[in-house]
Amino acid sequence: MSPDIRGFIFDLDGVLTDTAEYHYLAWHKLADEEELPFNREANEALRGVSRRESLLHIVGDRQYSEAQLQEMMDRKNRYYVESIQNISPHDLLPGVVTLLDELKQAGIKIALGSASKNAQTVIEKLGITNRIDAITDGYSVQRPKPAPDLFLYAANQLGLEPSQVIVVEDAEAGIEAALAGQMWTIGLGPPARVGAAHIVLPSLAGVHWTDLRAKLNELRIGDKEDKGDKGE
Ligand code: BG6
Ligand code: MG
Repeated sequence: MSPDIRGFIFDLDGVLTDTAEYHYLAWHKLADEEELPFNREANEALRGVSRRESLLHIVGDRQYSEAQLQEMMDRKNRYYVESIQNISPHDLLPGVVTLLDELKQAGIKIALGSASKNAQTVIEKLGITNRIDAITDGYSVQRPKPAPDLFLYAANQLGLEPSQVIVVEDAEAGIEAALAGQMWTIGLGPPARVGAAHIVLPSLAGVHWTDLRAKLNELRIGDKEDKGDKGE
C-alpha cells in the first residue's frame, strides 16, 4: 500500500523563502560586534535551530550572564526584523506557489512548522497566510527542533496522524525532528545536510505533487523491504 499523504508541513526559513540568509547575516553582524568567530560553515549548524540555541552555539564556552544573552538575542532579532521589512510575494522561492496550488487542488492540507517567532510576520508579507490551514511557530511548543514536538503539534492541528503527513525542510535539525515524529520527509539542499530525508531535492523549483507521490510510492516498496511493516 502506498503512503496516504493528507497533509504537508512546510518549514519556512530556507523552504518557502530565503530568510535563512537574513538569519545568517543578522547573526554575523552580532558576532562581529561581539568579536565572536562566525562564518557560513558555522551557520550550517544553526539552520532550523531556535534563537537561543543558535546564540549558545555561537558563544561556545564563553561565559555570559542571562541578561547579556537576552540582550544579544534581542539585538540579533532587531537586525533580522529590519532585514525582512521589504519581503513581498516576490520573495517566495521558485516552485512554491505551483506546489501549494497543486496540493490545494488535491485536497491536501497545509501547515507551517517553523521554529521562528517571526513566522507569522513573514508569511503575511509573503501573502500566503490564507493558503495555510494551521500555523505553528516559535511560540507553539517548548522543545525546539530536533525534538518532534512542533511537527506533532502541526499534524494534530491538521487533524492528521504523523504517518499521513510529509514535512518539507532545509535543516538537518528539521529532518531529524520529522523522522523522530515518524513522518515522511522531503529534504531540500545538499545530501550532506538533509540526506537522512526520504526524498532529497535541491529545491522546490519544478517540483510537482504527482512526481512526489510517485517517488513516495517507489520508496514505500523499498521501505517495506528494509524496515518490515513501518507505517502500515
Ligand atoms: C528557524 C531558522 O526557522 O527559526 C533559524 O531556520 C532561526 O535560523 C529560528 O534561528 C528562530 O527564528 P527567530 O525568528 O524566532 O529568531
Ligand atoms: Mg529552515
